[in-house]
Amino acid sequence: MSPDAHPPRIVCFMCNWAFCEEEMRIPYNVDIIRVMCVGRMDPVLVLETFINGAEGVMLVGCKPSDCHFVDGNLHAQRAVKMLKKLLALTGLEPERLKLLLISPLEDRDFSHYAKEFTEEVWKLGNSPLSKEEIVANLAAAKEAVSAFRLRVLLGREEELTEFMNAYGEKIPEEEFEALLDGIVKAEFIRYKIHYLTRVKPRSVKELAQILGIRPSAVLRHITNMRRKGMITLDKVEGYTPLYKALEVR
Ligand code: FES
Repeated sequence: MSPDAHPPRIVCFMCNWAFCEEEMRIPYNVDIIRVMCVGRMDPVLVLETFINGAEGVMLVGCKPSDCHFVDGNLHAQRAVKMLKKLLALTGLEPERLKLLLISPLEDRDFSHYAKEFTEEVWKLGNSPLSKEEIVANLAAAKEAVSAFRLRVLLGREEELTEFMNAYGEKIPEEEFEALLDGIVKAEFIRYKIHYLTRVKPRSVKELAQILGIRPSAVLRHITNMRRKGMITLDKVEGYTPLYKALEVR
């Protein structure tokens, strides 16, 4: 993404309680945005930051037990995990997103971590995807992350994996991960189909080619999307049905 001669552009969302403003040295390729707590960061904002041209995004918060909002940092950990899965689906390297939880007693300057992350992102080099592909995929990821199913799953991870339900069961960590992987992927593909059919009506075959999945899988998603009012049949060309997206409310 970045020309080799210049360091990549990094945007850092930083908790108000991390690093003292006056003592902080900020490398010129890094923009800092202060937030009350990293747990308050909406995952959609992170994806928008990439859409707006950031080559790396850093979230800086307090170490577990130091969060002023009790578990904001743990919420951020879960959000970053989900965002990394989505980034991988968009074709961007998940390593472009980093969460750093530090202690208020931290003796290293922010510039140390910023330089370290800059190096990591620099090494990744250019994305194999075109700018248009990245924007389209990130737009789909943004819709997916706003989707009700993912929001609910994100908010209930701790409850589902750490506490027993009414039947004395809890979901093992690996099972939850597999569930999350499946839902993240399904939501991403649905919103990618939505994005693509918003641009112009398309057939199942064409969508399957663009998405690199089987036509039967595309058809399953379309059936599901039609039930949810996300897509409709636009016309039939010859024997081929073409679908177009509906506005999602
Ligand atoms: Fe710093 Fe929550 S207050 S991460």
